[in-house]
Amino acid sequence: MRIFVARRIPDTGLDMLYEAFGKKNVTVFPEDRIITREELLAGVKGADAILPILTDRIDGEVLDAAGPQLRIVANFAVGYNNIDMPAATSRKIPITNTPGVLTDSTADLTFALILAVARRIGDGERMVRANEWSGWGPMQLLGSDVFGKTLGIFGMGRIGQAVARRASGFGMIILYTNRTRLDPLTENELRARYTDKATLIAESDFLSLHCPLTPETRHAFGAMEFAAMKKSAYLINTARGPIVDEAALVKALELEDIAGAGLDVYENEPVIEPGLRLCEKVVLLPHLGSATHETRGKMAAIAATNIIARLRGERPPNCINPEVLT
Ligand code: GLV
Repeated sequence: MRIFVARRIPDTGLDMLYEAFGKKNVTVFPEDRIITREELLAGVKGADAILPILTDRIDGEVLDAAGPQLRIVANFAVGYNNIDMPAATSRKIPITNTPGVLTDSTADLTFALILAVARRIGDGERMVRANEWSGWGPMQLLGSDVFGKTLGIFGMGRIGQAVARRASGFGMIILYTNRTRLDPLTENELRARYTDKATLIAESDFLSLHCPLTPETRHAFGAMEFAAMKKSAYLINTARGPIVDEAALVKALELEDIAGAGLDVYENEPVIEPGLRLCEKVVLLPHLGSATHETRGKMAAIAATNIIARLRGERPPNCINPEVLT
């Protein structure tokens, strides 16, 4: 058996793979950087299992480069927009992801962004570090309250629901839009009101994105949506960058169509639009949603569990295209 791991992951997962298949059969891309396309195509050659990270595009070319012995691709992420699912399914390759374990850490980070952008934490931090703080001032760095405000959640899956739970603690009014409405019991428990996208946009003080990136959600938020938001509202994105038309967001910030944005993800990572980087009304993080020791350790263990199950002829527990498991 040969396992190809496209970037070093926490030892919890690597140790499981070493134990199951022997260390010499597990190749970890040796450099701590994003693997290039050529390196990926060369690295997967002859692999029975591939463990890519979310920056690795896995398409028909990569699957074919691996060869006919390939039995599984275990993505190190819950989102799998980096994988060409039709190409995998047509080749009968099961794809797995890491759902569940990163829900709460991503929801925590979403709240960190909500609080940071509303309370101008980035501005304040920059001021203190630059030694420019001359003391407490009644008009200094005034932001916006978070408690009591309306939070709009676009995409009410596991992460959206975990964000709603946190918002309850802040006494927020919670609206949500989702492909399917939650059952009344869950809606009640979350104190969340179901609404359409237009109402969500018009009424939210904080609009937070939690849908997957699909052809339907690509650029779901652009010029029209920003123009329809409250001028005092903030956009929060911890999902995937291309859900937002970034050029339109920059323009909306310039035109003061919205008050600000808290972003963890970008349209062309790791490239950040200068219009965002230079804008004081945004808080920018480098895709840290799941970046805790605990969560990344669990993600590594899940990816390894899926590979071990598949290569032992068992059902990988987190298969996204189970129709290939006949
Ligand atoms: C992170 O962005 C993930 O999808 O796991």
